[in-house]
Amino acid sequence: MSQIRKAVFPIAGLGTRFLPATKASAKEMLPVVDKPLIQYAVEEAYAAGIRHMIFVTGRTKRSVEDHFDTAYELENELELAGKADLLNIARSIAPEDMICTYVRQPRALGLGHAVLCSKELVGNEPFAVLLADDLMVGTPSIIAQMVEQFSDWRATILAVQDVPREETRRYGIVSAESVTQDIVNVTGIVEKPSPEAAPSTLAVAGRYILTPGIFKELENLPRGIGGEIQLTDGIANLLRREKVFAYRYKGARYDCGSKLGFLQATVDLGSQHNEIGAEFSAWLDQRKPKL
Ligand code: G1P
Repeated sequence: MSQIRKAVFPIAGLGTRFLPATKASAKEMLPVVDKPLIQYAVEEAYAAGIRHMIFVTGRTKRSVEDHFDTAYELENELELAGKADLLNIARSIAPEDMICTYVRQPRALGLGHAVLCSKELVGNEPFAVLLADDLMVGTPSIIAQMVEQFSDWRATILAVQDVPREETRRYGIVSAESVTQDIVNVTGIVEKPSPEAAPSTLAVAGRYILTPGIFKELENLPRGIGGEIQLTDGIANLLRREKVFAYRYKGARYDCGSKLGFLQATVDLGSQHNEIGAEFSAWLDQRKPKL
């Protein structure tokens, strides 16, 4: 059994970068090929042995709850029509051993505040946080790689990657000392620094394994950059009490909070899709000379 039993999915964000698509719909339900973003993240956590999924939700996010619920009418129709393949797809979204719980983030006070909203449901144990905007692809899944690292280091683990210096403003950036090829000891962390102020170019991707000590830090946190309670600031304070490690994950990340990243994910995952991948790749290839 995984040592990490619970995963938190902060999904209360408004998704303004995807207006008008997200005016009345959850951005986490935008599909990449045929699967909503949130399902990729949940499947990643499930593949790491995590069975309790905690969604920190908000207004306009009802469709996420419906997505992970049983759809009796749909299942009934598919069963009657003898469409076993489709029935399997509908049922596999929420395997029987998976528990989903939902808690509301009543005000948009930031990622740190969203994580704090999960405190009662998480309790006193280490847990994973997955930001569905970051679609991560790897074998094993990125969060499974991090669970593995957690079993060695027994401390908070942040997924990191090198980014071009001009992009530091989009990320939490760590200062760190190398421990092994993949693991660095975090000595500081700052949210969205300017390229000039960034302590390094090692950026946090939307995957975390956090110890429950983070809740105490978040409870006492003043608002940070953007007037929000930042998870990054909570981790910075946690550093005074606990070790924090950053892990260079193995795999690909698509920033599906941006239109460009979303389209890149669509093209890459579309090209690899078991049903339409070959045809789509052939279409991409034959249209290249015309561009
Ligand atoms: C959040 C975090 C940031 C992290 C990023 C990864 O920012 O605050 O530290 O680097 O996710 O995607 P957001 O993209 O929600 O602004």
